[in-house]
Amino acid sequence: MLSLELRNVTKKFGAIKAIENLSLAIHHKDFLAVVGPSGAGKSTLLRIIDCLESPTSGDLLMDGVNYEKIDKASIRQRIGMVFQNPVVFNTSVYNNIAYSLRFRKVPDHVESKKVGDLLKRLHLTNLQDRKAITLSGGEAQRIALARVLVYDPQLLLLDEPTANLDPYNASIIEEALIEANREYGTTIVIVTHNIFQAKRLANKVAFMLDGKLVEYGDARSFFEKPSNPKTKAFIDGEIVY
Ligand SMILES: Nc1ncnc2c1ncn2[C@@H]1O[C@H](COP(=O)(O)OP(=O)(O)OP(=O)(O)O)[C@@H](O)[C@H]1O
Ligand SMILES: [Mg+2]
Repeated sequence: MLSLELRNVTKKFGAIKAIENLSLAIHHKDFLAVVGPSGAGKSTLLRIIDCLESPTSGDLLMDGVNYEKIDKASIRQRIGMVFQNPVVFNTSVYNNIAYSLRFRKVPDHVESKKVGDLLKRLHLTNLQDRKAITLSGGEAQRIALARVLVYDPQLLLLDEPTANLDPYNASIIEEALIEANREYGTTIVIVTHNIFQAKRLANKVAFMLDGKLVEYGDARSFFEKPSNPKTKAFIDGEIVY
């Protein structure tokens, strides 16, 4: 189980307000897409949830408990983060995926089962002995996702994970995300510039503009009858400021 709540979160970088007074509740098993133009504060939002930044003011709560009362390591153990540009270690694909399990001292037979499962889910089985740094960007992103999914995060955060990928690699990643959400109950927050991807994947959508949450709701009503004209303009592909 995992739920997350942000209450009046503001993040300033000097004079820049990257996030302004943002309140949002994410429920267990939600698949939330965060959309909005460049500079809206989307990545900052993910980084705050993942404890990579702390808010200037406001509160975050995980399962009703304030982040300030939980140590960062145990918050981050429950969260997996995937960035736009994948980072892989200079070792085999298999070892890349097994890495976090070895760190957690998981028994060998559990490791081989879990890694084998993730290799299959990300269509990487035939690449398992290859050196990860020799692979394509799309393959590397699939490894980055497998490496996070292997430790069963309860909350998965993804920052434009398919922005640089071709449709084949993007679709493998989308399938794996749908499976994680539906079969394994992983709560997911994905930042995407791709409205079609948000429509395909998400049950909730948040539209951010200039650090503020302009609209947040069920995917269907978000796309079919947005309440804010700026949301409608954004969905229609207009440039919104
Ligand atoms: N470490 C930082 N120092 C100073 N300013 C920052 C920092 N991180 C983000 N910002 C600023 O905060 C604002 C929001 O940035 P953020 O990266 O969250 O936007 P974004 O919505 O993810 O944009 P994009 O779609 O281009 O990735 C921007 O004005 C950015 O320049
Ligand atoms: Mg960003």
